[in-house]
Amino acid sequence: MEEILRTKVKDLLETKAGGKVLAKGWVRTKRGNKEIAFIALNDGSTIKNIQIVVDKTPENEAILSKISTGACISVCGSLVESVGSGQSVEIHADKIEVYGECDPMRYPLQKKDTTFEYLRTVAHMRPRTNTFGAVLRLRSQMAYAIHEYFHSKGFVYLNTPLITASDCEGAGQMFQVTTLDLNDVPKNKKGQPDFSKDFFGKQASLTVSGQLEGELGATALGEIYTFGPTFRAENSNTPRHLAEFWMIEPEMAFYDINDNMNLAEDFIKHLVKYALDNCRDDIQFLNDRYDPELISRLEGVVGTEFVRLEYTEGVRILEEAIKNGEKFEYPVYWGVDLQSEHERYLVEKHFGKPVILTGYPKDIKAFYMKQDPDGKTVRAMDVLFPKIGEIIGGSERESDLGKLEARIDELKMSRKNLEWYIDTRRFGSCPHSGFGLGFERLLLFITGMQNIRDVIPFPRTPKNCEY
Ligand code: 4AD
Ligand code: MG
Repeated sequence: MEEILRTKVKDLLETKAGGKVLAKGWVRTKRGNKEIAFIALNDGSTIKNIQIVVDKTPENEAILSKISTGACISVCGSLVESVGSGQSVEIHADKIEVYGECDPMRYPLQKKDTTFEYLRTVAHMRPRTNTFGAVLRLRSQMAYAIHEYFHSKGFVYLNTPLITASDCEGAGQMFQVTTLDLNDVPKNKKGQPDFSKDFFGKQASLTVSGQLEGELGATALGEIYTFGPTFRAENSNTPRHLAEFWMIEPEMAFYDINDNMNLAEDFIKHLVKYALDNCRDDIQFLNDRYDPELISRLEGVVGTEFVRLEYTEGVRILEEAIKNGEKFEYPVYWGVDLQSEHERYLVEKHFGKPVILTGYPKDIKAFYMKQDPDGKTVRAMDVLFPKIGEIIGGSERESDLGKLEARIDELKMSRKNLEWYIDTRRFGSCPHSGFGLGFERLLLFITGMQNIRDVIPFPRTPKNCEY
């Protein structure tokens, strides 16, 4: 007899009835009557289940007794038209094999609604739920769409280091990497740790951004992008911060701040549209289950022109709002780093669409940003989104050697550590720009999930490093 190859559930549901098929997966539910049993089978290829119909012969009864929610089985049978399952086809089983039973008494996912907090504690079950299946498939699809977008534009994918000796954002939020014995740290003459004895012969950390290395790529290859893990030891226990997240950082030679904004807007609209066009089942599920405005919010972003607004004007609008009775937890004045409540006010209440805020005070932004002639502001840009606040941060870069060095000195940063970077301004400096998109912030927006911990398979946050 010819061997039947396994078909994924997603493909089976798109197949016409007729012929023998082999399906493998995990049981979502089992129900039935005296004569037949119905099993809903899911294999992770789609949010949908395929229905398995089993005749209750004595032989099948013995196997059915081993099958409960969560069990892993293989089913061989006929693919037939379905009358009642809500799908076009179902499998009439000839032969069922049980790979792994699942004790109903100990099964950690009970029918009652499980909370997301609880699911984070059951690592093996979390991805088997409808919700996380949808989120994780979306995450994978979006990663693909990001690579596809930049490749179609001729950008070079550049891998920047995860272990680094420089602090790109200068905010001191780096995780140290060391092999020194913490119980017996070698000291120098000043009594400080002697990093020359450390693995790299100097102090090293996990990267907070691949941008500085990315600029070396852009000033040689023209247009590059990075897409990799990023680490921040900021003690922010918020629904929008992770200690380990993924960032996409394009960096482009010959782009000014306007080119940069245009790319950011086109990029993010492309990604949202990609999700709507290619991940409909999963988005529809999340929309129907949790967030009835999800799809309209996504469509809204694709179909609208983002507002472009100077920081100074943004502050004026917020001050005006306060005068008119709007209450914020944090103060607003020119020079302040805006909080997400302020960003969301501008986006959700004032304009009703995404905002790109530019011209920030230089004192609240990183050293590498291009300084405006007024000496007060820099060509920064933050893209602000409904429900999220900041989703992208970027800028035109300071390409003038003298100004860059002066700013590094002014901030009391070590020029010595950055000579390799400053060299790009010494040898054929060029105007250039770039930005960083937080991958999980994008996924928060696309899935409508409320907490950033629930759009990454294994979240790392302060005091939490399970698995
Ligand atoms: O605004 P940030 O700090 O910008 C940079 O790191 C620049 N070097 C990027 C560049 O110009 N190449 O971070 C960029 C984005 C933020 O807008 C946010 O979406 C995300 O990274 N992000 C975080 N996401 C999750 N958890 C955190 N702790 C994050 N910190 C930043
Ligand atoms: Mg930022």
